[in-house]
Amino acid sequence: MAKNEDINRREFLSYCFMGSSLFASMALLSVYVVQFLLPSANKNPTRKIYITTTDKIRPGNSFKFTDLRGGHITVTNTGSEFIALSTKCTHLGCQVHWKKNEKMFYCPCHEGYFNPKGEVVKGPPPAPLSSYKVEVVDQAIYIHVDEVYRASS
Ligand code: FES
Repeated sequence: MAKNEDINRREFLSYCFMGSSLFASMALLSVYVVQFLLPSANKNPTRKIYITTTDKIRPGNSFKFTDLRGGHITVTNTGSEFIALSTKCTHLGCQVHWKKNEKMFYCPCHEGYFNPKGEVVKGPPPAPLSSYKVEVVDQAIYIHVDEVYRASS
């Protein structure tokens, strides 16, 4: 009789283990299903930073600033829109500079060039500059940065 009780106990523990494993698997699966069905639930929260007013950045000019975390960001007025980009070159991380006459960002380290939208025009950079969403409200320019910090200095 005692042997039967041991077997029953083992079976019981085995069922408990399988049940908890199944429950954990279903919980993980439901997280992935929610992230798939609601992509916005997967996005990082952003915060809105005031930059300056629209009259401070004339068409063709760029305004560079450093955020509180030390990230360098530039806002360019193309004449039709304001574009905010990280000034960290995507090649080896040098700082890019706005060349007003050429209307391009220039990286002096290896002759990299980016257009005002941050797309690579010439040189070794493998990817465009990181961009930020810009919002203009009553002539005030704001950008949206990830709440979870991405190094962009
Ligand atoms: S670091 Fe900018 S082109 Fe190499």
